[in-house]
Parts: sequence; structure tokens; C-alpha cells
Amino acid sequence: MSTNLQPGDNLRDRYQIVGLIGTGGMGAVYLARDIRLTGRQCAVKETLFSPTLNDKIIESARKQFYQEASILAQLDHPGLPKVSDYFSIDEHDYLVMDYIPGNNLLEILAQAQRESRFLDVDMVLEWVEQICDTLVFLHSRQPTVLHRDLKPSNIKLTPDGRIKVVDFGLVKPLDPNDPSTLTGFRGMGSVPYAPLEQYLDHLGHTDARSDLYALGATIYHLLTGHVPVSAQERFLAPELLPLPQTINPSIPPVIAEVVLKAMSPHPKDRPTSIVIWRQMLHSSAVTMSIKANDDSPQSNWLTWENRLLMAVAVIMFVTAVWITF
Ligand SMILES: Nc1ncnc2c1ncn2[C@@H]1O[C@H](COP(=O)(O)OP(=O)(O)O)[C@@H](O)[C@H]1O
Ligand SMILES: [Mg+2]
Repeated sequence: MSTNLQPGDNLRDRYQIVGLIGTGGMGAVYLARDIRLTGRQCAVKETLFSPTLNDKIIESARKQFYQEASILAQLDHPGLPKVSDYFSIDEHDYLVMDYIPGNNLLEILAQAQRESRFLDVDMVLEWVEQICDTLVFLHSRQPTVLHRDLKPSNIKLTPDGRIKVVDFGLVKPLDPNDPSTLTGFRGMGSVPYAPLEQYLDHLGHTDARSDLYALGATIYHLLTGHVPVSAQERFLAPELLPLPQTINPSIPPVIAEVVLKAMSPHPKDRPTSIVIWRQMLHSSAVTMSIKANDDSPQSNWLTWENRLLMAVAVIMFVTAVWITF
């Protein structure tokens, strides 16, 4: 898709385009300079529609973009970009938010793959902690906010190690009493990360567990380097999804099990909330560290030390008995 803005272009006498950050399904994101607040960098997201789309679809997409802007503007969390402005120029809509430096996780994974290595499991789990914090925040809003398009390219890592979740194009407040909140232009999300229930969105079966599926699929991709087999394909042939540890042997099976639990095809087989799933992950990490301690040379040394102490105790006991009688 060709982009609309060039470096040097000025929007509303305030935002000067520096360059393109990325393009996606429905738009482009640019790095811009805020002329009014000197030194402030921002990201400007612009809608771009293919001319082949009909007016009704474009109207619905523009509505959804406005929804993205207004929901994000109400959310204040360190794991989310802060929205500062929204406006339209001709047929284009613009969303201005904080610029997040760094790469997205798909780019970071691609770099590791170019170097023929897997991402470090502990590092990925540390990112997962931060993603969970953000999802718990979103899901605990009133009404609940679902992201619905979580995937590696929608998660950025800043140079100081902070994780930020972007792309709220599919975000929606979940109001079960309002059927209009249950449909969306891009309602399905991205195929390898979208749970089955998101394809039947109009039936109203999406909830926190849908974001949990996408989180599981995202972790699967990051740890194995393989794009996960989609939920539809798994429905027809469950065996198509290899166990993560068969691709990357450094993934502890207990961790793989928890990741696959999040990716259960049927929502009823997934934990009901990110909080509960995160507890499962923590328990697995504890199991893992106990096992690691059991196997470590240090524990062998401790066992030897115990044996030595036991021998000294026995000798002292025998000596005491001998002296007494
Ligand atoms: N606020 C931001 N600051 C810096 N980069 C961003 C920001 N928002 C998005 N990006 C980058 O731009 C890419 C595309 O943005 P995204 O919102 O995901 O658009 P799309 O809906 O086209 O997928 C993302 O993958 C991310 O790398
Ligand atoms: Mg995106």
C-alpha cells in the first residue's frame, strides 16, 4: 500500500513527519516531531484504505479507528502508548500518540533467526510478565477492554526493557447488552493468533480468554520461531501443532504445557482469566527451579555435606556410649 505522507510534511501546523515506522492492514504509522512541544517525538497513525473498498466498509473502518483513538485516550498504563490527539484531514483520519522507541517483538525474533538462535526463554518470560500486567489492566476496566489482536508485531520493546502493547485497531469495550460492540470491521484478528470464537464474534463468545489464546500463540511463536498453526487448522488436525519443546529443546516442558493451555482450541479449556493463567505459569517456574536445584552440583555438594555431618554425629554418639559404659 503506498503511503500518503512524506518526511517534512506538516499536519495541522503541529506535527512534522520525520519518516515512516511501518504500514499494516489499514494504515501507516509515522514518526513525527511535535512543533508546539519542542523535543517531543510522537507517532502518527493514519488510516489508508484501498480504493477498491466500498463506502460502507470504509465508513465502518473509520468508525472503528475513532473507537481505537477514544478507548486508548481513556487508558493510562505504562504498558500502553498515551494518545494525545485525533483529527481528520480530507478522507484520512489521524491518531497521535507517544512515540515508543525500539523494535517490535517480530523484528527482534527475526534478528535472532538471522543469527540462527532462539530467543532466551527467561527473557521471553520476563516480557510475558509485562504483557500480562497490561492485559490484566485492560480486562479489569469497566466495561472490560479486549485487545483482540495481540501478536509479536503489536508488542514493542523499548531500549530500557519496557514492553508496550500497540495497535488497538480491534480493541473494543465489551458490553454484552450492546450487540453493536460485538462486531467489527477487522473483527477476526490475525489468523495464527486468533482463537476460533473470534470468527463467530457476532455470537458474543469472545472474552478475556480470547486475548489469552493470542498471548499463548504469541509466546509459542517467540519461543519456537515457528508461526503457530492456526486455530482453524488445529480444529481439523490437532496434531499439526508440534510441542514447543520438540522445536526448541531449551523450553522446559512444564512451561510449554502452560503455553499450550492458553492455546486450548475451546475457550472452556483455557483458564478464565490472565491472572489465573499467570499463577499457573508461576507455579511451573517454581517447579522448574526446584528441579534445577535438585540436579545442580551444589545440591550434590549439600548431600555430601549432610552425609559428613551424619557420620560425625554417629561417631560422636558411639564415642559417648563407649565413654558412658
Ligand atoms: N506509538 C508507537 N510508537 C512507535 N512505534 C509504533 C507505535 N505504534 C505502532 N508502532 C509500530 O508501527 C507498527 C504498525 O503499527 P500498528 O498500530 O500495529 O498498525 P497496523 O494497524 O497497521 O498493524 C507496529 O508494528 C509498531 O512496530
Ligand atoms: Mg499491527
